Amino acid sequence: MSLCFSSNGFLLHSKKRQRIKTCFSSQSPITQIQVNLSPFTPSPIPPLYLSEPLKFSRKRVCSIRNSTTPDVQTIPFSFRNKNPKDINVLVVGSTGYIGNFVVRELVNRGFNVIAIAREKSGIKGRNSTEETLDKLKGANVCFSDVTHLDSFENSLKNFGSSIDVVVSCLASRSGGVKDSWKIDYEATKNSLIAGRNRGASHFVLLSAICVQKPLLEFQHAKLKFEAELMKEAENFNGFTYSIVRPTAFFKSLAGQVELVKDGKPYVMFGDGKLCSCKPISEQDLASFIADCVISEDKINQVLPIGGPGKALTPSEQGEILFRLVGREPKFLKVPIGIMDFAIGVLDFLVKIFPSMEDAAEFGKIGRYYAAESMLVLDPETGEYSAEKTPSYGKDTLEDFFERVLREGMTGQELGEQTIF
Ligand SMILES: NC(=O)c1ccc[n+]([C@@H]2O[C@H](COP(=O)([O-])OP(=O)(O)OC[C@H]3O[C@@H](n4cnc5c(N)ncnc54)[C@H](OP(=O)(O)O)[C@@H]3O)[C@@H](O)[C@H]2O)c1
Repeated sequence: MSLCFSSNGFLLHSKKRQRIKTCFSSQSPITQIQVNLSPFTPSPIPPLYLSEPLKFSRKRVCSIRNSTTPDVQTIPFSFRNKNPKDINVLVVGSTGYIGNFVVRELVNRGFNVIAIAREKSGIKGRNSTEETLDKLKGANVCFSDVTHLDSFENSLKNFGSSIDVVVSCLASRSGGVKDSWKIDYEATKNSLIAGRNRGASHFVLLSAICVQKPLLEFQHAKLKFEAELMKEAENFNGFTYSIVRPTAFFKSLAGQVELVKDGKPYVMFGDGKLCSCKPISEQDLASFIADCVISEDKINQVLPIGGPGKALTPSEQGEILFRLVGREPKFLKVPIGIMDFAIGVLDFLVKIFPSMEDAAEFGKIGRYYAAESMLVLDPETGEYSAEKTPSYGKDTLEDFFERVLREGMTGQELGEQTIF
């Protein structure tokens, strides 16, 4: 038998897994829960770290969908009418570049945040549990594995509380073929299933503007999940989504700051005007994502979003950098055909050595971002349009470059590959 604490009572799970709900009221603070009396629990239940005491009160119970009972009842009231502190927001991908800022923003706005993390999080798993707890201060941190639905659901069951909103900032750290499907599709879908089974009626997805022109595996994986999310909203009255498709992040444009600072030329493809983007900072994007948690005007929408100011080509980004370091611009222009040649070679090799599929995929990712704009693709003209790409926030790329020149690249490291 297992015992889980919940905001509206506690659940006893019998051997036959029948639920007996007992309501009670208490203000007792609980800072760590690990109650597991069941010899039948399939995997060990991880501890839940609560930065704020969990308060129990009698509250109206949300109908919770169970995977075996598809005839879900419509949720009779909207979480949007509750106070932020009573709105339970589950954040997956909470330890990523954007996810971390999203958690902070939601905590600052007073939501009750449940952040899912791995015990070794961050790039190459370099953050210990203590460091992760510190980075996610203010949230209730649950160490769990989103890639295994059963153990993930167990962790949430152990937490006991219902969920109002799921925010996914999950992403493959490598962009490799299998990992993209495992994270950008499967793990993200697990978070939808687990969230729905605990009553979630809204899902905010961090996607990417580049899925408009899908040529890469991770884009196909994201699009498959987006389509299933939209279907869920179509099929179940009362369930909604917001799909956020941002343009380039600052970290993706910061790779040459230190090289230019060291006197090297700025490297760009073609004439440096093959593509452009409206870069957005982590904080501004996190703020936009937090808006999506309760804003009714963002319900059931696909939301492309860029940062403030005009769209910038690589050549313009280079000019900004040279101005900041006080040097004459020096560009190294690389013909894009070189990348096409490299991709051709890798595509040929992958037919002989299938294990090279990720190397070939990374080549394609590099080629994609060298030539495709991170802007809205106007369906009428088939061209990228800076005007049709909404702007949000206040942080400019110039301010960001200035900060990195002054303080270094800490916090702006790329993932386990060199592309994103
Ligand atoms: N880079 C850009 O310019 C850009 C532009 C537009 C959109 N985007 C999109 O933005 C999204 C998020 O980007 P980001 O830079 O914030 O991502 P990120 O820093 O790589 O973070 C990825 C998150 O997913 C988690 N994750 C990855 N693999 C996992 C696994 N096997 N098991 C459990 N958790 C796992 C990571 O957890 P750990 O910390 O435990 O690894 C981390 O929390 C991506 O979908 C990307 O396509 C990026």
